[in-house]
Amino acid sequence: MADTQPKGDAESMESVLHEERKFPPPPAFAAQAHVKSLDEYETLHKESVDNPEKFWAEQAADLHWFQKWDRVLEWDLPDAKWFVGAKTNLAYNCLDRQVEAGLGDRTAIIWEGEPTPGGQPEVRRISYKQLLDDVSRFANVLKDLGVKKGDVVTIYMPMVPELAVAMLACARIGAPHSIIFGGFSASAIRDRVEDGQSKIIITADGGWRRGKPVPLKENVDEALTMTDRVEKVVVLERCQNPVTMKEGRDHWWHECAADASADCPAEHMDAEDLLFILYTSGSTGKPKGIMHTTAGYMVYTATTAGITFDLKPATAQAESPDVYWCTADIGWITGHSYIIYGLLPNRVPTLMYEGAPDTPDKDRFWDIIERHKVTKFYTAPTAIRAFMKWGSEHIDKHDISSLQLLGTVGEPINPEAWMWYHQTIGNEKCPIVDTWWQTETGGHMLTPVPGATTTVPGSCTRPFFGIDAAVVNSEGDEMPTNAGGILVIRKPWPSMLRGIYGNRQRFIDTYWSKVEGYYTAGDGARKDQDGNFWIMGRIDDVIVVAGHNLGTMEVESALVSHPAVAEAAVVGFPHEIKGTGIASFVTLRGGVEGTDQLVEEIRDHVAHELGPISKPDLVRFTDALPKTRSGKIMRRLLRDIAAGREITQDMTTLEDVSILAKLQGQG
Ligand code: WTA
Repeated sequence: MADTQPKGDAESMESVLHEERKFPPPPAFAAQAHVKSLDEYETLHKESVDNPEKFWAEQAADLHWFQKWDRVLEWDLPDAKWFVGAKTNLAYNCLDRQVEAGLGDRTAIIWEGEPTPGGQPEVRRISYKQLLDDVSRFANVLKDLGVKKGDVVTIYMPMVPELAVAMLACARIGAPHSIIFGGFSASAIRDRVEDGQSKIIITADGGWRRGKPVPLKENVDEALTMTDRVEKVVVLERCQNPVTMKEGRDHWWHECAADASADCPAEHMDAEDLLFILYTSGSTGKPKGIMHTTAGYMVYTATTAGITFDLKPATAQAESPDVYWCTADIGWITGHSYIIYGLLPNRVPTLMYEGAPDTPDKDRFWDIIERHKVTKFYTAPTAIRAFMKWGSEHIDKHDISSLQLLGTVGEPINPEAWMWYHQTIGNEKCPIVDTWWQTETGGHMLTPVPGATTTVPGSCTRPFFGIDAAVVNSEGDEMPTNAGGILVIRKPWPSMLRGIYGNRQRFIDTYWSKVEGYYTAGDGARKDQDGNFWIMGRIDDVIVVAGHNLGTMEVESALVSHPAVAEAAVVGFPHEIKGTGIASFVTLRGGVEGTDQLVEEIRDHVAHELGPISKPDLVRFTDALPKTRSGKIMRRLLRDIAAGREITQDMTTLEDVSILAKLQGQG
């Protein structure tokens, strides 16, 4: 069905939000950081954008190359090749390089399972040496099953160490992986297997989620009734839930690995060999298989992880002073880049947690931070807003003073959620890195550099080194200060997507056609007088009210700044007089009652914060907002509900379908 929302014009998006609070890097943090001052950041940023070849060659020099590159960069956008002629292997740089440097016994992964039998969590600490053995053994299993360099391997697993083993084994033998988030269903598996022409799936019997096994193998079985492409399935035993094994096709992981040799030399991969495909649904249409290649992705994720999180490596003498925890699932790009690939080369223990934040109780995350003495913590605004809603009593039970830096990714963070994160989790001493990036960009693009950047709640601040970001109109001209426009990247960067698997035209249409010669992210943004970027929302979600173009982010942030509001989403809807009105869907903080009086109070609050044009015409209370499985608010569904239209759009990415039924039921 055609979307009847009047199309906004991101070129003239207006900003109504004004944020005055500023937080310079804590001096003690800056003193020990990799980048220690704004001057240092600015000098290095300018140099890196003027001469990316020099900057990226310097970063790459720390890593292992079987053969050095002939040229750092060759480009003719939308195509770019990095480290042309080089041979390397990402698994080698994650594992062998550490073992060879005498760090084999240092911790690579700290893993915690969800169940807590007898009150004791299940914990595994895995060294680089152990991980290298496990990866090599499983790489040999894959080879025995007939997997060759270039074959796409589908991985559909829970958050267990074997997921890391499987992906690194693929990287080791040069088989691109296609990881599917364990919350997706059979039809999502079928679509991705077909699109990637993958003949093998690695899965598990189940994975723990809120005390119950998610039946992963059963979902695979169902998917395989809809496609006959898959010849082999490897099944890890995790939950011991009942599964059926098909003779000849299905193999138990532990049986295959039992006799496999732990010696498997890493394949010498060409810099531009495909490393993985990762599907991103976007808001419409069939999922896009985003392609990332070996060397550029490796160098970019290792560099950004090291600098953005200010990581300090282990040495032959001692463990790293850091324990880093990213709460994302490895099924998303955040997990690919900032649980595994960017982290292991930095020689910092990366924590993986299998389950839900409220199992067995709502303090699980803080308990994990306390027990493992986590220093760097990276999560999403959707999680932060849930913690706010649950209340600080869950945090007060724990000593989380080991934390030194906090990060956020996935959606714009509302300034009030940022302030809460800063005060309640960071104890006002931790820099916050609000990192803007995408599956397509591979790594952080706009982010504070924690020892250098003065942060402002709600802004992802400035471009990373080597990134030439701008806010422009459709002609490519830069917008004036604070005027909303289209966020673009004007020069290639090492981890940029190399295409959409099997669909060149869609790659060009989606990312390279809105503004000639530039990469278009699909987000609207503005740049303020200090050079800080503010993401205003997706360009497709712009609301046009009485001739004004409003981004969703600012109205939502004003709503969240009301003390009763936990989370909010706004959309446009047909309005008799104005043409388009603003509808807001609001969840309330724990214990607050949604009365008519509160509706008026909230509307007035927004008008007071942002001015009368942004005053919502409708405020609707709800227990929860419809979200994608990675926690992004699905405004397009709310648009239909607000307009009273029937929902005919694709809902396969929706996390909880019952929310929709409830919202529609309200009429
Ligand atoms: C949004 C996640 C504002 C944005 C790494 C982007 C953000 C999309 C931020 C990509 C942020 C991500 N501030 N918006 N810090 N981070 N986004 O592919 O709309 O899952 O285009 O990658 O999320 O989502 P993806």
